[in-house]
Amino acid sequence: MKITYYGHSCFAVEIKGKTILFDPFITPNELAKDIDIESIKPDFILISHGHSDHIADAVRIAKNSGATVVSNYEITEWLNKQGVSNVHPMNIGGHWFFEFGKVKCVVAVHSSTLPDGSYGGNPMGFLLETDEGNLYYAGDTALTYDMKLIGDYKQIDVAFLPIGNNFTMGIDNAIIAADFIKCEKIIGMHYDTFGYIKIDHKEATEKFNVAGKELTLMKIGESKSL
Ligand code: NI
Ligand code: MN
Repeated sequence: MKITYYGHSCFAVEIKGKTILFDPFITPNELAKDIDIESIKPDFILISHGHSDHIADAVRIAKNSGATVVSNYEITEWLNKQGVSNVHPMNIGGHWFFEFGKVKCVVAVHSSTLPDGSYGGNPMGFLLETDEGNLYYAGDTALTYDMKLIGDYKQIDVAFLPIGNNFTMGIDNAIIAADFIKCEKIIGMHYDTFGYIKIDHKEATEKFNVAGKELTLMKIGESKSL
């Protein structure tokens, strides 16, 4: 499993030769200005909810790449209206087998209005079960006791958790979330992009260390293999 960070909550993950892109928000992100989005050609785009900081570049990248876009029903309907026809609608509690593995949609406690004010359904997280490991992408969410269900349901090898506070859970709650899902390897997301969510990197990684967990804060444009 190879992971590439494109800033904010946007990651590409390569599994079984397929590239899965999560929550594309690159061109409006000043911190990600060196990323050339024309070069991003995923096979799948997974979108957790409708907020622009998760969907801003979805239409462009979907049209460029022909990727299958997986999201909730309301968001896939909206994408249809923007000319993106290759979509797979899902909703919380459901799972589906794709070429790279199984995707299960799980609860996220947040909101989901689309950029033009359209109703964006309910926000979700994604649990990916694959031959190359299991991954939990939490999306934007508060800490919720439902995360215990995710940890009971599957052994999770790596989890992408929001840590920026203000709009989502912050570092302290993310450490509890990591306990709930029984995962030691955490990749931070949804931090530093805006003034409200700037974090102290050293303090964040130290707090995770004290809790016996590893927090990775990837550099934008950086790739790593797990
Ligand atoms: Ni959001
Ligand atoms: Mn967000």
